[in-house]
Amino acid sequence: MKEIIEKLTEEINQLELSKTVDAENFRLKYLSKKGLISVLFDDFKNLDTDQKKVSGKPLNDLKNYAQNVWELLKAGSVQSSGDEKIDLTLPGVELPVGSRHPLSIVKNEIIEIFNRLGFTISEGPEIEDDWHVFSALNFPPDHPARDMQDTFFVSKNPDIVLRTHTSSVQVRVMENQKPPIRTISPGRVYRNEAISARAHCFFHQIEGLYIDHGVSFADLKQTLLYFAREMFGENTEIRLRPSYFPFTEPSAEMDISCNLCGGKGCAFCKHTGWVEILGCGMVDPNVLEYCGINSKEFTGFAFGMGIERITNLKFQVKDLRMFSENDVRFLDQFKSAL
Ligand code: PHE
Repeated sequence: MKEIIEKLTEEINQLELSKTVDAENFRLKYLSKKGLISVLFDDFKNLDTDQKKVSGKPLNDLKNYAQNVWELLKAGSVQSSGDEKIDLTLPGVELPVGSRHPLSIVKNEIIEIFNRLGFTISEGPEIEDDWHVFSALNFPPDHPARDMQDTFFVSKNPDIVLRTHTSSVQVRVMENQKPPIRTISPGRVYRNEAISARAHCFFHQIEGLYIDHGVSFADLKQTLLYFAREMFGENTEIRLRPSYFPFTEPSAEMDISCNLCGGKGCAFCKHTGWVEILGCGMVDPNVLEYCGINSKEFTGFAFGMGIERITNLKFQVKDLRMFSENDVRFLDQFKSAL
């Protein structure tokens, strides 16, 4: 039996090298129920114990070897069938290409604009402590944002929250770096809101911070004007309205001339000619001091915007929920915006 096994091994070896045999023919000849190897296994049962000892392993090896060769022939069946030709001039099968998420497209565009002004990118944790989200930012202890209704708390510990804005990242930057600081913090934020077309329990922000000797409100205004024109076109006008944030003084909200009607007034801007896009102001000296920066020596400005809001203005997405539904019919529309 040993000789037959050796002979078959050699035969299969030759077939494997020449690759001229069809996988199915190979299986029929060697591996099927009536194939040569199966017949050997039948014969094996009738051998005496000594012979079984000699032939058992080689026979099993042969079977495994034949099975491997069969798998290889199956995998390469196009080549092995010989007479079948591949038409190399046929066009290839087009693979469907995905698109970038509209929020990522807009986020990257905002980042590029501020990069050109020398702003770095800083990131921080989404699960934060009270200090970085509220206390260091001068929120009074009874401020409504600290309420369960506005903020998500993690477990029963009232000190650990899901960040409600990425200003928390700026606190971390101020604590760890010496001025000059020029950085933007993109990221996801969470607020305890009922989900509707106009509000969601999570959204995305980019906040900016600039601290150095003699930074003034005029610098803030010029930086934001540059941003607005790069983002929405060179004819865009801006206007600042007084506002209030605990961490900036003075504070303002910025509108841009409506990018749909060019400021003439339309349904989108509720016939005012203006649409609001961000909050901003001069960093409150208290905040600088809390973060270890001498407020007599340094001043700074900060601003923060919602990426969804900017995306809505650019692409007129009417329902915030579409951003997180992952409906490809929605996402596919942004292919050309890459
Ligand atoms: N953190 C504010 C918000 O989430 C935005 C802001 C940032 C306002 C910086 C002023 C200065 O609404």
